[in-house]
Amino acid sequence: DAALRVHAQARGKFIGTALATSPLANETAYRNIAAGEFNQITAENAMKWSDTEPNDNQYTFSGADQIVNFATANNQQVHGHTLVWHNQTPGWVQGLSATNMRAAMNEHIATVVGRYANNPTVVSWDVVNEVFEENGSFRSSFWYNTLGSGFIADAFRAARAADPDARLCINDYNVEGINAKSTAMYNLVSQLRSQNVPVDCVGFQSHLSTQYGFPNDLQQNLQRFANLGVQVRITELDVRIQGSRTSAKDTQQATYYTNVVNACLAVTACAGVTIWGFTDKYSWVPDTFPGEGFALIYDNNYSQKPSYTAVHNAL
Ligand code: XIL
Repeated sequence: DAALRVHAQARGKFIGTALATSPLANETAYRNIAAGEFNQITAENAMKWSDTEPNDNQYTFSGADQIVNFATANNQQVHGHTLVWHNQTPGWVQGLSATNMRAAMNEHIATVVGRYANNPTVVSWDVVNEVFEENGSFRSSFWYNTLGSGFIADAFRAARAADPDARLCINDYNVEGINAKSTAMYNLVSQLRSQNVPVDCVGFQSHLSTQYGFPNDLQQNLQRFANLGVQVRITELDVRIQGSRTSAKDTQQATYYTNVVNACLAVTACAGVTIWGFTDKYSWVPDTFPGEGFALIYDNNYSQKPSYTAVHNAL
């Protein structure tokens, strides 16, 4: 049957994956699935600050360009990830004074966004990532602690100036259901837009676990953001399981994938679903959540799992 991207396109949505540069360079099977099944790409790491500007004003775009060139060759759109985050940002940034940190942020955004501003493959950016704590207060990051919450509006304005046509997103995890964190996000987006800060889109990472119940109000939550006038998107979907695979766990995981795709399909303003990789061989999950894994839609040998069939059948 046809690839995921064929079905997604017919529904007016994208189906995407995050890509890592090393298997993209080295593995034909990885490349073939990435090219054949998906029509949207996010760089898993290659566009992050530590990759693009490891030292002050010394930029390296080899990995970012590799991803963008692959996407262009395969008629895929790229979502830039991510400009301002508390992780994977070099130490030299974290130690700056407020004045210098603000200048470094604006300069980084201008340079990275500016590089792809006239490239039609790169259509959107995660401008700020993970700015909230679970209780809905602003995350106590070096950004917030040095600059206050104003860095968020400043970052969006800098990104708009660097590429007036790019869709600019705020992205976070554990905001899939209606809860304190997603409500803080909702209030911030509402406030920023009322102040004409150019926030166009909200990304829901959706790093889910079968250990926790499915957020059954996902569609309702996406819709309340859509009603603010923003695009919404699922940006980093995976569904981890505890321990080893069983058919029961595979089935439960597949149900989660079905539910996420269905929620996006049901919301007109939902642009699509990006899965955080596609093969369990390269998933970030086992490194980050000890004892958990098998979160994606292909196994370690590039065979399709029930979760692949779930996404395919939902689209
Ligand atoms: C993860 C990558 O998958 C890993 O390879 C890397 O070591 C750490 O970052 N939220 C995000 C992503 O926004 O950038 C993170 O990606 C996963 C959590």
